Amino acid sequence: MSATIIDGKKIAAEVLAGLSEELGALRERGAVPGLATVLVGDDPASATYVRNKHRKARELGLFSVEHVLPAATPSGALLELIDQLNADPRIDGILVQLPLPAHLDPLPVVTRIDPLKDVDGQHPVNAQMLAAGQPRLVPCTPAGCLHLLDAVGVALEGARAVVIGRSGLVGRPLAQLLLARHCTVTQCHSRTRDLAEEVGRGDVVAAAIGKPGLVRGSWLKPGAVVIDVGTSRGEDGKLVGDVEFAAAVERAAAITPVPGGVGPMTIAMLMANTVRAARLRRQP
Ligand code: GUN
Repeated sequence: MSATIIDGKKIAAEVLAGLSEELGALRERGAVPGLATVLVGDDPASATYVRNKHRKARELGLFSVEHVLPAATPSGALLELIDQLNADPRIDGILVQLPLPAHLDPLPVVTRIDPLKDVDGQHPVNAQMLAAGQPRLVPCTPAGCLHLLDAVGVALEGARAVVIGRSGLVGRPLAQLLLARHCTVTQCHSRTRDLAEEVGRGDVVAAAIGKPGLVRGSWLKPGAVVIDVGTSRGEDGKLVGDVEFAAAVERAAAITPVPGGVGPMTIAMLMANTVRAARLRRQP
């Protein structure tokens, strides 16, 4: 067996095409959704992610503003910028790129964002709504994973889903989204005793832990659907996922490649959340 390769680029392009139509309708009413990002420090990977988000926002015809602050920015200055963006009528979505430098606690920072402008779904109110089964603005990467599963027609109801990772950006919200879709969810993490055994039970396996090749192809249940959220740099500088791809392709029914799987969906979902936030603010 050789797995279907889930084409994230193509599926993301379809999402963006749908948004483009919706934006046309909004523009006729004089509304141009606006996205602001805040990057603190000069981590090159984060800078690339943010640059790609803005490139896509502009291509789509959104208003977009990029704020880059020095690594030593005190928390007061960051909170002040967030207050300004909360009050700026041109801005519908605010994203603070994570991780922040070590001296900045992310929780008070994301909590300062107006929850209706929280296009990254990191505000505790939005996290709580998701946990309560009433998703409003959902973190972009897990939303993208769900969209990929739906796009390839995976039957989620009653399926065993294994999520590896428990970060606030991906693992936790992804488990919540799968639970809301009636999966039986197992959340694994760095202390899980027998990861191979847990993975072996999954009809859907989503890996979001950032360790290249951690999930061995031989662990997978034959016919599993695999979503690989990992993006690490290999020794040759190329992007690699958390799943041992060559072996996994031989056992899985479908799998996302890295790159070209989940990555493009994260950006597409950020655009979708920005348009959604623009609508939420105009019709509360
Ligand atoms: N760092 C890596 N991915 C993301 C993301 O989706 N949102 C934010 N805010 N930071 C990230």
